[in-house]
Amino acid sequence: MPELEISNLHVSAGDKEILKGVDLTVEAGEVHALMGPNGSGKSTLANVIMGNPAFEVTQGTIVFRGEEITEASPDERSLLGLFMAFQYPVAIPGVTVTKYLRMVINAHRRARGEDEISLKDFRQVVEHAMEMTEVNREFSKRYLNDGFSGGEKKRLEILQLALQRPNVAILDETDSGLDIDALNVVAEGVNTVNTQSGAGVLIITHYQRILHLVKPSRVSIIADGKIVTEGGPDLVDQLESEGYGWITADNELAERASA
Ligand SMILES: Nc1ncnc2c1ncn2[C@@H]1O[C@H](COP(=O)(O)OP(=O)(O)OP(=O)(O)O)[C@@H](O)[C@H]1O
Ligand SMILES: [Mg+2]
Repeated sequence: MPELEISNLHVSAGDKEILKGVDLTVEAGEVHALMGPNGSGKSTLANVIMGNPAFEVTQGTIVFRGEEITEASPDERSLLGLFMAFQYPVAIPGVTVTKYLRMVINAHRRARGEDEISLKDFRQVVEHAMEMTEVNREFSKRYLNDGFSGGEKKRLEILQLALQRPNVAILDETDSGLDIDALNVVAEGVNTVNTQSGAGVLIITHYQRILHLVKPSRVSIIADGKIVTEGGPDLVDQLESEGYGWITADNELAERASA
């Protein structure tokens, strides 16, 4: 059974239908890439998987580790082992990075029936995660994402990923706007979580560069709210050289034929 199984998902915002019957799975330990043109519904799908109330699921189901979570709250999903790195991480002025990370770790421990983490253990795991993601220690005292550069925010997302060790991680354009060094750090963090704790990863991206560092075994293409093609890693190179025209054209032909 897949860790995450999305079936016939239809999603609207206001009176606009954005997702029009998405089927997608993420297996334990796999890296699955999701690509598609701007505005095709990738971030919407990621947000709906995490339970963002801005979107309404009008049809279909999301099942996570055998449990239907279509209507679950974002907190419940996180505690069950779902993680998402956002395309645009939000700042939380007034809450320091350290405080935030402790809150998150303790919420997950409480959900597992464990005591709060000791200060000593907390320092140790955070230091280790900071080293891995090359986040400077000075960041622990700063307010979360407040005034962070784009690349700093993305590194911090990977730091949280490393601390949380979820069953499934969804990364929405975590590679965009990164310099080469940061890209390597992010890729290493994702690979570590993927190989060491066997997390399934759904990686949303426009670029092949990260997919040469975090190697997907499957690639799905979404266009106009529907998965139109699924293939192996070769699909990434084909998209890079040919763009999306051939896929969306095929899709329109198929739609016309079935209409
Ligand atoms: N809250 C909303 N209300 C109305 N329309 C929305 C809302 N959120 C998203 N949309 C629309 O849904 C479509 C899909 O948006 P989405 O952000 O999912 O695209 P995307 O595939 O992530 O694109 P990109 O590659 O540019 O990040 C777009 O046309 C967008 O304008
Ligand atoms: Mg997006």
